[in-house]
Amino acid sequence: MQIDGIDMLPGRAEYPRNQWYVAAFADELCREPLHRMLFGDPVVLFRQEDGAPVALFDRCPHRGMRLSNGGTLVGNNIQCNYHGIQFGPNGRACLIPSGGTPTSALAVRRYPLHEISGWVWAWAGEPDLADPSLIPDHAELGLTATGLNAYFGERLDADSNYLYSFENLVDATHISFLHHGLIDSGNVAAHPYTVEQQDNRVIMRRVFENEVMPPMLVRSMQLSGGPVNRTLDLISYAPNVCVVRQEYVEVGRQDLPVREMRLVFGITPAGPKSSYQFVAVAQSYENHHPGLFGDLRMLLMEDVVALNDVQQMFDLLGPDRVPEISVRSDEGAIRTRRLIAGQIAEERRHVPQAAE
Ligand code: FES
Ligand SMILES: [Fe+2]
Repeated sequence: MQIDGIDMLPGRAEYPRNQWYVAAFADELCREPLHRMLFGDPVVLFRQEDGAPVALFDRCPHRGMRLSNGGTLVGNNIQCNYHGIQFGPNGRACLIPSGGTPTSALAVRRYPLHEISGWVWAWAGEPDLADPSLIPDHAELGLTATGLNAYFGERLDADSNYLYSFENLVDATHISFLHHGLIDSGNVAAHPYTVEQQDNRVIMRRVFENEVMPPMLVRSMQLSGGPVNRTLDLISYAPNVCVVRQEYVEVGRQDLPVREMRLVFGITPAGPKSSYQFVAVAQSYENHHPGLFGDLRMLLMEDVVALNDVQQMFDLLGPDRVPEISVRSDEGAIRTRRLIAGQIAEERRHVPQAAE
């Protein structure tokens, strides 16, 4: 599927490079080098002595060993474990133990980072173009908002193109089937919805009345178990975040506060056919459910099974034999896909050298 000349066929869809993506949870980064595939690149992440995070291309340009493979930190530099060349946080070699002066060619790419609350964001494009104002507003997401408690937890790895991951989160109708009653009473798929689009956001809203929720939701929302009125919003922030926002009002219990819970997903391409979901939870109440992230993982692994299966079928059959026939409820996904394609087309129009 081409949109604006961009290949957006899920299974091999392109993604914007001049954007920020969640690279890690903040507590994953320390004084030990961490290897992670990001946007198709091997990347090594660590912290400088003052705690500032660093991300560099994870291949030593001398003889090609991964810097993270046994590499050690010497002050703010990373020392390759093969012949000991050291690279500074800017990616340039600064010391060659065997002698000689480092040339400008002896350098690795640096990825600008931005740490906000429990997430570290990385810029996938040209470092000089990094624009922090493009990072979604964390207060709006609910991760730094007054009145909401944020928890940062699970990372899910899917062997599927990032667009499959992204669109799965925009699509509520699978809740009734793939999640077989774990988080609804079987009524989401057929329920009416509205769609609204604002800038780079697509919001799909469903409003339910007088529902009895299944035990898993009663536990995680810390509800009394009686009927509730609820609002379910799926909000996509193209190209990097999806929010599942739920608001619950217990019917006939004006004494109980309205409960709000958001699942906030940072969606990051790991490679052309692999992606991460960095999951955070924001809720209007203190979390007293110790199994919150365990429950979530169990639920979200059902999505991963589906995502991996869809990618396997794409790879097995090839792009000419995987027709994709959309139905009405795919509107949110298709709108999001168009937004992302527009972002790629835009960056190619203005910054052609950034496209890789
Ligand atoms: S391969 Fe890294 S120093 Fe030689
Ligand atoms: Fe799901």
